[in-house]
Amino acid sequence: MDKIVVEHLNLRYSDGTESLRDLNLVIPANAITALMGPAGGGKSTFLRALNRLNDLADVVAQSGRVLIDGKDILEPEMDVIALRRKVGMVFSRPLPLPLTIYQNVSYGLEVAGERNREVLDKAVKLALDQAELWDEVHDRLSDPAEALSGGQKQRLCLARALALKPEVILLDEPTSALDPVATAKIESSLSELKKNYTIVIAPHNTQQTARVADWVAFFLQGEMIEFGPSKDIFTRPKDKRTEEYILGRYG
Ligand SMILES: Nc1ncnc2c1ncn2[C@@H]1O[C@H](COP(=O)(O)OP(=O)(O)O)[C@@H](O)[C@H]1O
Ligand SMILES: [Mg+2]
Repeated sequence: MDKIVVEHLNLRYSDGTESLRDLNLVIPANAITALMGPAGGGKSTFLRALNRLNDLADVVAQSGRVLIDGKDILEPEMDVIALRRKVGMVFSRPLPLPLTIYQNVSYGLEVAGERNREVLDKAVKLALDQAELWDEVHDRLSDPAEALSGGQKQRLCLARALALKPEVILLDEPTSALDPVATAKIESSLSELKKNYTIVIAPHNTQQTARVADWVAFFLQGEMIEFGPSKDIFTRPKDKRTEEYILGRYG
């Protein structure tokens, strides 16, 4: 199913940088779509467009459409709070709130008005389970999140997003601060999660893209050069620039 349809998306920052130029792509549900390409290509800008986080940045001009389930989320009347529940995000720095492990996961639900302890307990357990963290923390949910390792913190951030029952999960270089073991755990939860979610990730290197992606979009200087099944992109890219990037000629 086509979960996200992007049509003629253009975005310019106030300093004049054209960060996205005429972007057109379709992001399927129940799969991992990876945004690949050298720094400055527009991957983070694009991820932020998908839950309107650019509203908070210095964006002067944005045009085109981003349809999620057929509805254009760029329309001014879009309920941005509801959108951000539906489209959750995990950032590269694992930064839990200065609260307990439990509270980090329940926080979003409590802010949204959920007060029922049983409902919260269940949601916290489920989200921690989905993030493959429950087994490691179930007996110390009242400990400060600060006490967790970096990898555990990042899985906690993933659980925090999952607790809000999103349909789309955006991840911007989620393992760039993690060691290989912690990275493998995040990648394994993502492979499990994709059965039920639409996942869009900017992996932190090409090897990770090759490991996790079902679909790959190659971004270069604000343009999407190529989009296709991961296998095709890595074995027979259509564009010379994609091939050069994969061969490590730049970025
Ligand atoms: N808040 C901002 N204000 C101005 N320019 C920005 C801002 N964020 C990103 N850019 C510029 O937009 C371009 C794309 O950046 P980004 O989306 O971060 O790319 P990537 O994630 O692929 O490295 C770069 O030229 C970057 O300098
Ligand atoms: Mg980035």
